[in-house]
Amino acid sequence: MTQTTHIPVDIIERFMRDTFQALGVPEEEAVICADVLITSDLRGIESHGVGRLKYYYDRIQRGQHRATTEIKIIKETETTALLDGQHGMGHVIAYRAMRMAIDKAKQYGLGAVTVRNGTHFGIAGYYPLMAAQEGLMGLTVTNARPAIAPTFSTEPMLGTNPIAFAAPSDGPHPFCFDGATSIIQRGKVEVLARAEKPIAPGCVIDAEGDPLTDPVQALENFGKATAALLPLGGAGEELAGYKGYDLATMVEILSASLCGGVFMKDLLGFAPDGAQRPYMLGHFFLALDIEHFIPLADSRLITGQIMRALQEARKAPGAERIYVAGEKEHENEQRIREQGVPVNANLRRELQFVRDELHIPGYEEYF
Ligand SMILES: NC(=O)c1ccc[n+]([C@@H]2O[C@H](COP(=O)([O-])OP(=O)(O)OC[C@H]3O[C@@H](n4cnc5c(N)ncnc54)[C@H](O)[C@@H]3O)[C@@H](O)[C@H]2O)c1
Repeated sequence: MTQTTHIPVDIIERFMRDTFQALGVPEEEAVICADVLITSDLRGIESHGVGRLKYYYDRIQRGQHRATTEIKIIKETETTALLDGQHGMGHVIAYRAMRMAIDKAKQYGLGAVTVRNGTHFGIAGYYPLMAAQEGLMGLTVTNARPAIAPTFSTEPMLGTNPIAFAAPSDGPHPFCFDGATSIIQRGKVEVLARAEKPIAPGCVIDAEGDPLTDPVQALENFGKATAALLPLGGAGEELAGYKGYDLATMVEILSASLCGGVFMKDLLGFAPDGAQRPYMLGHFFLALDIEHFIPLADSRLITGQIMRALQEARKAPGAERIYVAGEKEHENEQRIREQGVPVNANLRRELQFVRDELHIPGYEEYF
């Protein structure tokens, strides 16, 4: 295990902004990218925060993302839009697509925006939370590089295809479910690799279907299609792994079949001749304006009542507490603001590398 230090949130956020700007992202857009990443760290989602900074660095350097984002509107109605992200910064594309969905919903009750040629946009939950903060319900899904094997297969075919949904409540935080359709997602495997910890058996399989627990090997083998993540529910049908597989497929369809985008193995980031190319991801954003259905206060109350009833349900023997989605992330925020963002030795080395390569001054005392 590697030694972890904690770095103040504002320092990490500023460093990410400086990095994106040094890579050529315009200031206003670098602010959005850094906000999505720091929101992940604040919510305790280590897999998609500063830990992913070098991943964006690598992709921009390799020409798989454009540092400047120019979104093309292909088709638009009052309630719908089809956008081409043109391989810009995923966070900026997603932020603007959700903004559009929210604005349409406020006017017409709902807004549905699909995107093709998007790039990795970080935590899916950021975008429906934008809707919830403004009193709307929001849903976001995206496809991703193949990683999940279908039930009865060992071949990675579907991305970790997250589903994120948020609804405002009258409690201390909105309901916010934000998770992959695999048991663990690729980012968690990266976190385990950096922390030098094994993957729990039952999450990743090799080409023969046997458990693979070494995260470094798993990351290497995903690229060669000789390892795969198991869908929610796990291998086979005993614990209904087919439901995770089916949900991942539903996300793939919402992410590709509405926007005319590419899907599954065409998202690997390689052209048929083996050259690297953009990932060409597809996304789907939905916003629902509650006031077009019932008064917002009534909806907040009902959602709050549902959440509280679940929290107050009879506890299983030995269990101390029942959570609802979004609760742990809400509580993490206060703690991480006080303690700082955890950075272990392997991540520190990555941040030093980015800092030195881009000649970003002013962070030597932190990493
Ligand atoms: N952009 C991409 O391509 C991509 C792909 C996969 C995942 N992701 C992101 O990775 C992040 C982490 O995903 P993950 O699959 O590791 O999430 P996870 O397995 O940690 O699940 C998180 C969800 O479960 C809820 N939760 C946790 N404990 C709970 C409990 N006891 N009771 C009720 N709910 C509980 C959380 O509130 C949260 O909504 C997400 O933000 C996701 O969007 C992004």
